[in-house]
Amino acid sequence: LLFVALAAILGYLLGSVPFGIVITRALGLGDLRQIGSGNIGATNVLRTGNKPAALATLLLDSGKGAIAVLLARYLGGEVAAIVAGGAAFLGHCFPVWLGFKGGKGVATFLGTLIALHWPLGLIACATWLVTALLSRISSLSALVAAALSPLVAMVLGRGDLILVCLFMTALIFIRHRANIARILQGSEPKIGKKA
Ligand code: G3P
Repeated sequence: LLFVALAAILGYLLGSVPFGIVITRALGLGDLRQIGSGNIGATNVLRTGNKPAALATLLLDSGKGAIAVLLARYLGGEVAAIVAGGAAFLGHCFPVWLGFKGGKGVATFLGTLIALHWPLGLIACATWLVTALLSRISSLSALVAAALSPLVAMVLGRGDLILVCLFMTALIFIRHRANIARILQGSEPKIGKKA
């Protein structure tokens, strides 16, 4: 139980590092909160026009989820790994450093899933990619990938991951409320376009 509590704290702290903010500040790309959707994620970093910065944000925000899972698994086993992944995701959405006003969790969700069960993570990434190629809308791609994840976990025989998938999916939908409204209105911007 101690390990699980430690995994939660470690995961949360890792997840709460807002790499989008860190990178855009370091590169002098302006205040991400004042750009596009105001979100701290890679999709919004791309709206600064700096593709490498967006890619770095995507990799680091997903990487922190993966590292949290791998570290917790090494130290405390599979339950600790699942808790750490969920906590990292939560940390990204509600980081203590930003007054709990964080991101939408998509990259961290993907990184966490890859580390928890790579086929599940790979299918989620592929779902995101196919939806993005068809729709050119980042938020819609995330919503589709998230919605399918509990089902895919079940099909892959990882019933133990359904709960964490449901948790992350529910939060991804809640965090995308404004995006969902724009999608329904047909006003959600395409990837790379300034919002
Ligand atoms: O990863 C977040 C993405 O799904 C939507 O981002 O900036 O378009 O709200 P944004």
